Amino acid sequence: MSTLDVDWVRPQFPALALQVNGRPAVYFDGPGGTQVPQRVIDAMRDYLTSSNANTHGAFATSRRSDEVIAQAHAAMADLLGCDAAEVVFGPNMTSLTFILSRALGRELAPGDEIVVTRLDHDGNVAPWCALEARGCRVRFVDINPSDCTLDMADLERQITPRTRLVAAGYASNAVGTINDVGEIVRLAHTAGALAYIDAVHYAPHGPIDVRRLECDFLVCSPYKFFGPHSGVLYGKREHLTRLRPYKVRPAAEENPYRWESGTQNHEGQAGVLAAVDYLAELGRRASPSVTSRRAALLAAYDAIRPYERGLAERLISGLLVIPGLTCYGIKEPARFAQRVPTVAIRIAGHTPRELASYLGERGLFTWDGNYYALNLSERLGVEASGGMLRIGLVHYNTAEEVDRLLDSLHELRRSGP
Ligand SMILES: Cc1ncc(COP(=O)(O)O)c(C=O)c1O
Repeated sequence: MSTLDVDWVRPQFPALALQVNGRPAVYFDGPGGTQVPQRVIDAMRDYLTSSNANTHGAFATSRRSDEVIAQAHAAMADLLGCDAAEVVFGPNMTSLTFILSRALGRELAPGDEIVVTRLDHDGNVAPWCALEARGCRVRFVDINPSDCTLDMADLERQITPRTRLVAAGYASNAVGTINDVGEIVRLAHTAGALAYIDAVHYAPHGPIDVRRLECDFLVCSPYKFFGPHSGVLYGKREHLTRLRPYKVRPAAEENPYRWESGTQNHEGQAGVLAAVDYLAELGRRASPSVTSRRAALLAAYDAIRPYERGLAERLISGLLVIPGLTCYGIKEPARFAQRVPTVAIRIAGHTPRELASYLGERGLFTWDGNYYALNLSERLGVEASGGMLRIGLVHYNTAEEVDRLLDSLHELRRSGP
């Protein structure tokens, strides 16, 4: 097993030096967006300094722009395990999913069905519900509320001969559950349906291999894995070629560019390239014998996963002894391969917003509410009372930071209701 060198990791991220009320800031808000390494900031500044132009011009900055864009697609292809022509950039996951649902809607007929889940972020629900206007029917897969896993028996029930698409998440951005995505794709394909996987929350935590998954589409957002604000869609070449995007006539006809409407965020793509290279360097440091960037990226996740798992065990075992605390999702360490270190809690006598404010004043950044996992928050019965407090760990967090959070919550219990 390769080990993560957190003493190398932390200085890469200048934001980690921030102080709040005299104490170092602790970023447990990674699920809402992670911090970026210095090289991402440098790459964006360098792009704007020396390559800033529109594409396909007959001059130096435009040619450099084309090169950065091609390299960013290639980097994301290495991260996802596909070809660069199957990588579509966009402003964020939500916009890309609306682009895709709109295009897909052109080949759907009234009565066709789409399956979504109650565990998902609304970015993988609302774009599919929009197709109800075309006469499609959307079916919801339930969860097992005791551990916030997907009810796979219900998934099988919801898939019918009319199912055209199954949209599911790789990991829950609220409670951290990792879904059996391979099985979801298999069930979708058995019914002749497409599988659309939202890997936004999974991407900072685990390796993605779209070929092995055989999913038809997969989306992620680089700002959740140490890059700038942007979104990326993987689409199987055959689908990106067959489906017709809404596009302006003079724009490119070839993949993936025909899916990238209008002028893209070029400096953002320069930053994404640097973020992928950061992860690859992390992997090379953990596993010096790797050769390709793809192998280095897999090595990075080999190092990240056990490190994050150790943090999650420390956090969850520490939370569970706090009186009046409810922890949602998988809690048994033996099942931690089925979760990422994103933990949702409530504490009796405090709203999640009160908890987040209390922690925020102590420099501990957490999130409260539903984080757009609206169906889950409703299903768990917490939506009307402020949702849950989410503590989201990534590999730049430390055991000391976890202890600081636990100490603060204990202090609150001692002083509070
Ligand atoms: C699991 C998940 N899916 C989708 C989204 C939406 O991503 P974006 O902000 O890129 O539209 C998020 C954002 O929080 C998310 O966590």
